[in-house]
Amino acid sequence: MSTILKLDGVVAGYGAGDILKGVDLDVQAGTVTCLIGPNGAGKSTVLKTISGLLRPKNGTVTFRGERIEKLAPKPRLLKGIVHVPQDRSLFPAMSVWDNLLMGGYALKDQKAVKQRIAHAVEVFPICARRAHDHAGSLSGGEQKQVELARTLVMDPGLILLDEPSIGLDPKSRQQVFLSIRELAAAGRTVLLVEQNARSGLAASDFGAVLESGVVRLVATGASLLEDPAVARLYLGAASAGHGLAQATTGPQG
Ligand SMILES: Nc1ncnc2c1ncn2[C@@H]1O[C@H](COP(=O)(O)OP(=O)(O)OP(=O)(O)O)[C@@H](O)[C@H]1O
Ligand SMILES: [Mg+2]
Repeated sequence: MSTILKLDGVVAGYGAGDILKGVDLDVQAGTVTCLIGPNGAGKSTVLKTISGLLRPKNGTVTFRGERIEKLAPKPRLLKGIVHVPQDRSLFPAMSVWDNLLMGGYALKDQKAVKQRIAHAVEVFPICARRAHDHAGSLSGGEQKQVELARTLVMDPGLILLDEPSIGLDPKSRQQVFLSIRELAAAGRTVLLVEQNARSGLAASDFGAVLESGVVRLVATGASLLEDPAVARLYLGAASAGHGLAQATTGPQG
């Protein structure tokens, strides 16, 4: 395995006070990594420091051996880092096909865009079936498939997915995780953030726990699912009173 993305001591926030207080994270090429943590921990903020929506105050972000933390979003996109945000991101009044075309807006090579759309449509057949429909007329699960398809237009080396299963019914949720596994099987690297920690970890090779501005724990997805402290705090086994640091080192009542 080789490291495709490395965060080293990343400090970031939105003005007063830091949200990320020295985040270290390694992501292995061709794997799925799931970042979990309490609401407001800064999970989305981590993704933003990788795609460039937010520049870290300190620390480094290295992608394929190259420092990128000072780059704007577009050059990062051109390097193959695609960010699918937490909220629905398709243009609802545009057709599915036009949304796919928008996925390649940063590219000059229109021939490559067409070829990649043809490939994306093979991987996500819903895009062919509904090509001419308004994206907004698709179900939430179908829109998520189109959002994933749209990332392929950049031939991405790293796909960042913020809460890909949020608001989806169980069947669509299963489908989105299946699609994520297929992306990894095809050699893509996926870093996702999931509220739905159990399903997220189950679909992931690795999991990382973000808490109090740092990554507290990294392990395989399977071992995090079996970790009693993680289960208690993040898998809905019982109410989460305090954080992992206390849970693993402090006395428990
Ligand atoms: N644009 C912004 N301006 C100011 N504060 C922000 C902004 N975006 C996020 N924050 C704050 O930063 C903190 C971390 O937010 P972030 O969205 O990264 O958390 P999260 O772990 O993704 O939470 P959730 O699980 O609710 O999605 C929160 O306290 C949030 O209020
Ligand atoms: Mg978030």
